[in-house]
Amino acid sequence: MAKQRVLTGITTTGTPHLGNYVGAIRPAIAESQRGEFDAFFFLADYHALIKSHEPAMVHQSSREIAATWLALGLDTDSSTFYRQSDVPEITELSWILTCVCAKGLMNRSHAYKAAVQANEQNGDDPDFGVTMGLFSYPILMAADILMFNASKVPVGRDQIQHIEMARDMAQRFNHLYGDTFVLPEAVVDDVAVLSGLDGRKMSKSYGNTIPLFLPEKKLQKHINKIKTNLLEPGEPKNADESTVFEVWQAFATPAQTADMRQKFADGIAWGQAKKELFELINSHIAPARERYEAILEDGQYLESVLKKGAEKARSQAAPMLAAVRKAVGLAAFK
Ligand code: TRP
Repeated sequence: MAKQRVLTGITTTGTPHLGNYVGAIRPAIAESQRGEFDAFFFLADYHALIKSHEPAMVHQSSREIAATWLALGLDTDSSTFYRQSDVPEITELSWILTCVCAKGLMNRSHAYKAAVQANEQNGDDPDFGVTMGLFSYPILMAADILMFNASKVPVGRDQIQHIEMARDMAQRFNHLYGDTFVLPEAVVDDVAVLSGLDGRKMSKSYGNTIPLFLPEKKLQKHINKIKTNLLEPGEPKNADESTVFEVWQAFATPAQTADMRQKFADGIAWGQAKKELFELINSHIAPARERYEAILEDGQYLESVLKKGAEKARSQAAPMLAAVRKAVGLAAFK
């Protein structure tokens, strides 16, 4: 039986942090190494242009994200790893889908509605600062998914609506032109949402992240900034209300977790708990950090891996796009 096709994209803005690692990167890489699925992972660099008009930032972020996935051991033989902008078939498909996608569907997009609402609250024009890229973002995302007939799409909660929209567009296209696209489904894994320095969800938009591959000293400094309460050494502490414990748990074995829970009950000092947390995380990521630093400097290597991935992706995308063009009436004259 053919392996199930799983696909997910990573928008290339920002630097990968512990929350990305625990919630998305680590499980995806483990999956690639098990080789159970036919997995597609890509750098959504066209999506980055929706969020950022800073070329240097977009470029650096792509590089850091690619180096991160490779340093952590992504199996690029069993999976297909590529840059969205290296696969021009995707943007071509995006236009064709734009022509079957109802504008009303895009009006309902959470991301667009949130922007409009913020403008209204500020007394601005409702569409102030809203580009067509932001407005039609779900169409590009649908093209990413439908291009490769992915059936499962692992995403965060905030992305579920986009997968449903992709499904809508696929259905609409299939209805108009005949069965062409597989209907994708979102897969949401809720367990691994990590808290950040201030106790809220770790997220670039809150500015509370711990970047994954900080140099040791800086990693320690960041961990020291995790918010705690004012309990003194010797006073019992509630593990379940502590970000320090939560992050510990994301890296520890069950035995190490039980051990730390006991130390909390016994009143471990916050400084000591953070010191142990730093040592745990550092021991996990130090070998990958060294690879990361080397890969980050090696543009040639990065290019060769991504170009190979793009070739693999295009070998699937080209026949799919040909079928789509034919279905809509864009065919050669005979
Ligand atoms: N929009 C997604 C995000 O911000 C990233 C993304 C782009 C994506 N294209 C995709 C995810 C296709 C899954 C499938 O998280």
